[in-house]
Amino acid sequence: MFVSRSLVAVLLSTLALSKPLARDLHVVHEARANAPSGYVLTGPASPETVLNLRVGLVENNVDGLISALYDVSDPSSANYGQHLTQAEANSYLTPTAESASAVNAWLSTNDLTASVISSAGDWLAVDVPVSKANELLGADYSVFTHVETGKQTIRTLSYSIPANLTGHLDLVHPTISFPDPYAKAPLELKRSGSNAIAKRSTDASSPCEEGEYPDVTPDCLLYLYDMPSTPTITPGNGYAVTEYIEQWATYADLKTYLEDFRPDMSPDTAWIYQSIDGGINPQNESTAGVEAELDVQYAIGLTTDVPVTFISVGGDFLTGLLDTALTLLNETAPPQVMSTSYGDDEDDVSEAFAYKLCNAYAALGARGVSVVYASGDGGVSGGHFDPNCTTFLPVFPAACPYVTSVGATNSLPTQTATYFSGGGFSNYWTRPLYQEGAVAGYLARLGANNTGLYNPSGRGYPDVAAYGVNFDVVYAGEVTPVSGTSCSSPTFGSVIALLNARLLAAGRPTLGFLNPFLYTSGIAGLTDITTGSNLACSNYTTGFYASEGWDPITGLGTPNFANLLTAVGL
Ligand SMILES: *[C@@H]1O[C@H](CO)[C@@H](O)[C@H](O)[C@H]1NC(C)=O
Ligand SMILES: *[C@@H]1O[C@H](CO)[C@@H](O)[C@H](O)[C@H]1NC(C)=O
Ligand SMILES: *[C@@H]1O[C@H](CO)[C@@H](O)[C@H](O)[C@H]1NC(C)=O
Ligand SMILES: *[C@@H]1O[C@H](CO)[C@@H](O)[C@H](O)[C@H]1NC(C)=O
Ligand SMILES: *[C@@H]1O[C@H](CO)[C@@H](O)[C@H](O)[C@H]1NC(C)=O
Ligand SMILES: *[C@@H]1O[C@H](CO)[C@@H](O)[C@H](O)[C@H]1NC(C)=O
Repeated sequence: MFVSRSLVAVLLSTLALSKPLARDLHVVHEARANAPSGYVLTGPASPETVLNLRVGLVENNVDGLISALYDVSDPSSANYGQHLTQAEANSYLTPTAESASAVNAWLSTNDLTASVISSAGDWLAVDVPVSKANELLGADYSVFTHVETGKQTIRTLSYSIPANLTGHLDLVHPTISFPDPYAKAPLELKRSGSNAIAKRSTDASSPCEEGEYPDVTPDCLLYLYDMPSTPTITPGNGYAVTEYIEQWATYADLKTYLEDFRPDMSPDTAWIYQSIDGGINPQNESTAGVEAELDVQYAIGLTTDVPVTFISVGGDFLTGLLDTALTLLNETAPPQVMSTSYGDDEDDVSEAFAYKLCNAYAALGARGVSVVYASGDGGVSGGHFDPNCTTFLPVFPAACPYVTSVGATNSLPTQTATYFSGGGFSNYWTRPLYQEGAVAGYLARLGANNTGLYNPSGRGYPDVAAYGVNFDVVYAGEVTPVSGTSCSSPTFGSVIALLNARLLAAGRPTLGFLNPFLYTSGIAGLTDITTGSNLACSNYTTGFYASEGWDPITGLGTPNFANLLTAVGL
């Protein structure tokens, strides 16, 4: 055994010597010390495995894009609602000719030809086998296994680019950003004792039950949030829900759901189907996914005849998030609301990737799209409850400042913050101006609680909340109660889609990026949630408490459609 050990040492040094000299001109571009917690290195990736690389070029004027975003999203701005055209948005995103030619020359020197995959030209795609990617990027693509789920993914812990591409090339993906390993199904609360004692509301006009965790149906949510149930048909209005990680819905289950819970609607109401990255729309019960069923059933069941698009995205999760944003940015009239109930722990995603995708959401906001995200189901411990975390883990994209993130409530008739509702503070983005007053006020109340466990200068999330437990979903033919911020996001998105319908009917622009409105005049349309707390990194400690005003479990509160309508001036 001792003999073979020295043999290995000799082989390693030979390999090191044979590295191409050109490598000396390369600089490490992104690196992480370790795989994210929960992942272990299993071994080298097969050299023949083809990686579908995304290459992000430096955009020419991100600061200009962000200024333009606020200029059209701040209700006090003269240009409020004057959303950018595709060409206007692209004028900020398109890389300089110098950047485009530098990156393309580098690829062609290496016998690679990339295709342009964004209408602004800031993203390229190129398929490269692992062996060649290792050479091109000085990378070490390996197989990493997530211990708890067994999910495998091919990543490298660092990569390099030619020194003279710095300032032209933002990042290459997939490299050091790891996917959410969980096939993001909402947590399904068991019918608890408290649910068993749920009773019909004492308010005769309420279709809701009462209790700590009562089941809800669309008629209850419509009542709770003062939403109209009359058909809302306004030309040009659109609402999209997105599905990743092999989540599909069936038309048959949607039909049963509408027959059971919205008998006033046509049972044949269906979604508009859109596929990205080879996403599919299978119709057998065996492949139905509870997340997808929940999203389409409530998006359709709460917006009465608003056209709902079901976007089915295949492939790598983070690549899929990116490609979805790029696909909508390449549409002349993208749906004005997009609700997504997926995420990843922020530190699983590299800063460069997170910033660049968040900027794509800024571009969508500037184009007039409200990008709505579930805030995660792990309280302060990331997207999923992590009993092992040692500091609070924010969730991406929920903590991106250019999305609206939605936490969860339970209990009726008076709602309270739910223990799993994701919330906290980003370690990547500082606090945006629109929430300065709201978050500073909360931090003053928080005092020394949780000091050292969160970043007090970070972007606070969620922005708002909505009911999130025991939604009755028809799943593979059966009514199943489903819980999670996955319920809250499409509910809040539905309120916005209905507001957009009214605005369009009145000849007004849609709401677009919501946060500057929500934190100012929009507050009048939200109900503050002031009780409850969420879980920290173990069951025995508390993350944050809800309080008067903004808090990092329920944000500014739950929506009230009628009051929001007044807040937008209708
Ligand atoms: C970067 O350096 C390489 C190798 O010297 C050269 O071929 C390439 O043209 C340079 N690119 C730029 C943008 O300067
Ligand atoms: C943008 O969409 C059009 C179809 O409307 C398509 O032909 C074109 O290839 C797309 N561009 C990019 C960069 O994806
Ligand atoms: C069931 O779904 C699979 C995809 O997962 C598809 O290949 C198959 O054709 C589907 N079967 C039916 C009967 O729809
Ligand atoms: C927490 O740590 C324990 C002990 O190391 C491990 O068995 C478990 O899988 C971890 N849980 C998660 C969610 O990572
Ligand atoms: C601070 O923590 C205590 C419990 O330790 C709790 O009672 C109090 O509500 C917390 N304050 C805030 C503002 O969260
Ligand atoms: C924490 O709570 C969960 C859910 O109630 C339970 O499954 C788990 O065993 C608890 N963990 C500890 C350490 O008590």
